[in-house]
Amino acid sequence: MCGIVGYAGNRDALAIIIGGLESLEYRGYDSAGVSVYEGGKVDTTRATGKLIELKKALEGRKRSGIASLGIGHTRWATHGRPTETNAHPHTAGRVSLIHNGIIENYLPLRAMLEAKGCTFLSETDTEVAAHLLNTLLAEGFEPLEAMRKMCAQVKGSYAFLAIDSKHPDRVLVAKNSTPIIIGKGDGENLIASDIPAVLQHTRRVIVLEDGDLAQVTADAVYIENQGKEVRRKEETIAWDPITAQKGGFKHFMLKEIYDQSRVIGDTLRGRISEHDASVKLPELETLRDKASSIKRIVMVACGTAWHACLEGKFFLEEFAGIPCEVDYASEFRYRSGLIDKDTLVIAVSQSGETLDTLGALEAASGKGMTLAICNVVGASICRKAEMVVYTHAGPEISVASTKAFTTQLVALQLLALFLAEARGTMSVAARRHVLHAMVELPAALSQTLKVDGEVSSVAKRFFQARDFLFLGRGRCYPIALEGALKLKEISYIHAEGYPAGEMKHGPIALIDESMPVVMVLQREKPLFEKTLSNLKEVEARGARVLVVTDATEEDLRGVHAEGLIRVPFVAHELSPILLNVPLQMLAYHVAVLNGTDVDLPRNLAKSVTVE
Ligand code: AGP
Repeated sequence: MCGIVGYAGNRDALAIIIGGLESLEYRGYDSAGVSVYEGGKVDTTRATGKLIELKKALEGRKRSGIASLGIGHTRWATHGRPTETNAHPHTAGRVSLIHNGIIENYLPLRAMLEAKGCTFLSETDTEVAAHLLNTLLAEGFEPLEAMRKMCAQVKGSYAFLAIDSKHPDRVLVAKNSTPIIIGKGDGENLIASDIPAVLQHTRRVIVLEDGDLAQVTADAVYIENQGKEVRRKEETIAWDPITAQKGGFKHFMLKEIYDQSRVIGDTLRGRISEHDASVKLPELETLRDKASSIKRIVMVACGTAWHACLEGKFFLEEFAGIPCEVDYASEFRYRSGLIDKDTLVIAVSQSGETLDTLGALEAASGKGMTLAICNVVGASICRKAEMVVYTHAGPEISVASTKAFTTQLVALQLLALFLAEARGTMSVAARRHVLHAMVELPAALSQTLKVDGEVSSVAKRFFQARDFLFLGRGRCYPIALEGALKLKEISYIHAEGYPAGEMKHGPIALIDESMPVVMVLQREKPLFEKTLSNLKEVEARGARVLVVTDATEEDLRGVHAEGLIRVPFVAHELSPILLNVPLQMLAYHVAVLNGTDVDLPRNLAKSVTVE
């Protein structure tokens, strides 16, 4: 996600902030900006593109001394395109403000502020916070009090940094569900979204907690929570800068696996209401009116995103009652596909730049309705589609897709529930049941991460195998395919995913004592019993079996497997999301044990922009 750096001290704030933002470049971003207090006033400069563009814009600016205070931001677009006007800092009267996170109630807040006479220049959710803070300061509140009152009105996730030009000795900070740290120096203090941004200057770090407000000057850090001063522990960071970028994890892939609980929350935030069992996707309002005329859905994607589509087919058919086909984008683009005006074509892509997926979307444009599910705001696929639902996975750096896949599944569930509501194909009680389970999903995923130690031990037993078979039925079949893809992608071991019931029609010939079989086993009946029979067939041929399941210990009596990994159960519809996590971990640990380049596997690229 976006990067944040703030500074209060006696050295040049501008140089320190730009340096800090450079150390956060690995997170990905599409525009950048800074506000610094220099020569008696606050100056703001913003630019689209990389930091080099911001530096060029700053070169043209006449400096009047050394800036002693400032805030800087690299923006990964969520609300509004990656333009200069949407870049942070946002200014309103006395206030310059930057933000990471999502303000859920920005539309009513914006309407309220516009009614008071505020003029908005951007499409962002963030600008409301700048206006709100400025309005409160203009009403006479002291800076920290104004910040407190502003946060009380904002719903959602945030890390805010703000400067008030009438109090240019301090940076105001607020945190809720979005990380922010303070780096303590001698006669200077820094604030940042991530540790790497401060490591060049200090290793003494305070990690703020949810609900914290802070006022940071060159000599002091004041922190409060719920109106009372609090003391947060100061830690000394021993990480080298590269480890710090990976959040202390050995590889980006592992960090991204561990990010999944948070990014599910980000993708759901502001989009579901359990109260009226509804899904809020304002970006799809035009589709609501046409929902009952949709006769067919065609989904197009590549690789992992294609697996997300196979899983999405279950939700869309089950919830919304619409027949759904899934096609490889590279195949679909060169045949007619019989698309007409009652067909909804959904393109799924993390990067939004995959050439085959873009080509498939182009082939459908003008014939049917088009919708993209994408992780990168303003990407080519988003510009081509009529409608877009964004996943909020944040930048995914490792070539092997993990958290993007998980958020694609969440977005497809939201879409299916939205269509079900619009078409009247699901009762309120049934929708509420799934929505309730979705609310519990981030916590269930955190719980699932605890199997990492067990998976790592299993990997030690299996890592020398040359072939793997991944089997699953129903909703677990796409997960078996994804598990096999992940393993081959980063460990270069041959792996095949197969529907467990299909195994006896061919792949069973491959099975012997040297072949590990990974069985993805969902407790849902009747496929649970059917998959258990397939497990027996595999066992009978001497295969080494690893079972990944959400079934209870009692359900599993009589199952003899070399490895057994159990994940928590939330709801049958959501189990695939959790069952996938141990497979991601298995691929990761096997690759590490084989000494491959986990984050940059051979022959692969993060974004495939060639045919
Ligand atoms: C997944 O681990 C892969 N690296 C790859 O299959 C990827 O999912 C595919 O290239 C599609 O990319 P996209 O989601 O950016 O369109």
